[in-house]
This record gives sequence, structure tokens and C-alpha cells, in this order.
Amino acid sequence: MIEIKDVSKNFGPLKVLDKINLQVDRGEIISIIGPSGAGKSTLLRSVIQLESIDDGIVEIEGLRIACRKDRDDDEPIDKTTVREGLAKMGMVFQGFNLFPHMTVLENVMIAQTIVKDRSQKEAQEKAKAILNKVGLTDKENSYPSQISGGQKQRVAIARALAMDPDIMLFDEPTSALDPELIGEVLGVIKALAQERMTMMIVTHEMNFAREISDRILFMEDGRIVESGPPDKIFVNPEHPRIRTFLDKILS
Ligand SMILES: Nc1ncnc2c1ncn2[C@@H]1O[C@H](COP(=O)(O)OP(=O)(O)OP(=O)(O)O)[C@@H](O)[C@H]1O
Ligand SMILES: [Mg+2]
Repeated sequence: MIEIKDVSKNFGPLKVLDKINLQVDRGEIISIIGPSGAGKSTLLRSVIQLESIDDGIVEIEGLRIACRKDRDDDEPIDKTTVREGLAKMGMVFQGFNLFPHMTVLENVMIAQTIVKDRSQKEAQEKAKAILNKVGLTDKENSYPSQISGGQKQRVAIARALAMDPDIMLFDEPTSALDPELIGEVLGVIKALAQERMTMMIVTHEMNFAREISDRILFMEDGRIVESGPPDKIFVNPEHPRIRTFLDKILS
């Protein structure tokens, strides 16, 4: 589903991703944990091409969407292929980035009509169905300023889902929320996990990660230090650094 081969990324002299290798299978749920500055966000942003990579290859369902620009040993990247590959992914960020002048319903409709070429009627039906799924039917006509942070984040998730992604990427979806609003957002992600949506989730919610993930990646200094099933990483990690990190975050 996702193939990341030898991906490296620098910001000036700083190596932020250092030869990252990762394969994600269909229906697999991966959580990425690790200290601030480890490169977690950059990894997700590189997968969805919000950052260009300096080296390596990214493929989505066999479609090559990124590689080093000056590679002569690879086929050049085709724009249509990139567009097709990117359309298979949805991403949700810490900040919700909703359009403030549009209602909740309009926020979930807009990209459908522009990118997917759906009619207003089709887009509205789809938006209503998904808003119902994330429990926001009663907020359809509210504006973002009129709803809570947890509700805003559920709208952001609904907006991504309305594009029918095969893969969802979440970058700390609950970090900007008051503690009492975190649960409702995690609940929506959990429901997606039960439907076996393929997901990569950067999170500091360790219990949540442990509960829903098939695999945990621990990143530090631009590298995947260790990866494995939750019970292994949380109970018996090989790398002592993970133990220190977990002790610190859980205390
Ligand atoms: N646009 C940028 N320009 C320069 N440096 C950047 C840029 N974006 C990120 N960095 C640096 O790259 C490193 C990795 O950042 P990244 O945001 O991927 O870390 P992270 O693991 O997501 O951290 P956090 O848990 O704090 O969100 C950091 O040292 C950061 O300062
Ligand atoms: Mg980050």
C-alpha cells in the first residue's frame, strides 16, 4: 500500500530523515512515536508530498509519487501518476484548517465538487452521510467558530474521508485539544481502525496507540530506531531509549 525506500530529507545541514525504509500493508495501522524533532511530521509530510524528498522513493499502491530528482537509474515521475497516488491519501493535522467562512457541511463538500467533480447534490449527500458517521449531523449548518475543537477536528476528518481515501495520515490529531475533547476524536479514528482503514498516525496518546495499532515505530534523529507490535515496543523494547521516552511521557 505504501512503500518508502531509503528516503532521506535535509533541511539545510540538518538531516531530518535518514534513509527511512517502511512498507505499510493494506489495512495496517501504524503509530509513530518519538521525541520532538525526531522527524515524525516530516515523514508523514514526505509521504503525502508536502515536503519534497532529497533521496529515495515513495510509492502508493505501486504508483511512484516521489523520488530523487536527479536519479538517472529510475523512470522519470509522471504527473498523472503522482496525482493518482496522492488522491489515495487523506491527511489530518493538529490544527484543523477549516474554511472559516463556510459551514461544516460546505467544508466537507467543497473539495468533492472541485477535485472529484461531483455535483452539489452528490457532494451534499456524501457530506451528510460522513458527518452522520462522525456524529455531527446537528452541526451541519454551524460555522467553525461556533463549534468545539473536538468537533472541528471531526469535521477535518470528515472532509478527508469525503474524498474516499484508501490511506489516512494523522499528525497529532488530538494535541491541540482540551483533554476532555480528545476521546471523541480518538473514537472516530478507532471506528476507522475497525473498518481496517490503512493508517499512519503520529500520536502522543500511548494507550490509544497501543490499543489500535498493528505496529509501532519509534523514531529518533530521523531514523526508525525500532519497530514492532505494540506489546513488544511498550513492554519489552530492545532499545533502552524507548524505555526512557515512555517513562517520561507516561509519568
Ligand atoms: N521547514 C523546516 N525548515 C527547517 N527545519 C525544519 C523544517 N521543518 C522541520 N524542521 C526540523 O526538522 C526536524 C524534524 O521536525 P519534525 O517536525 O518532523 O519533528 P517531529 O518528530 O514531528 O517533532 P514534534 O513531536 O515536535 O512534532 C526538527 O529539528 C525541525 O526543527
Ligand atoms: Mg510533529
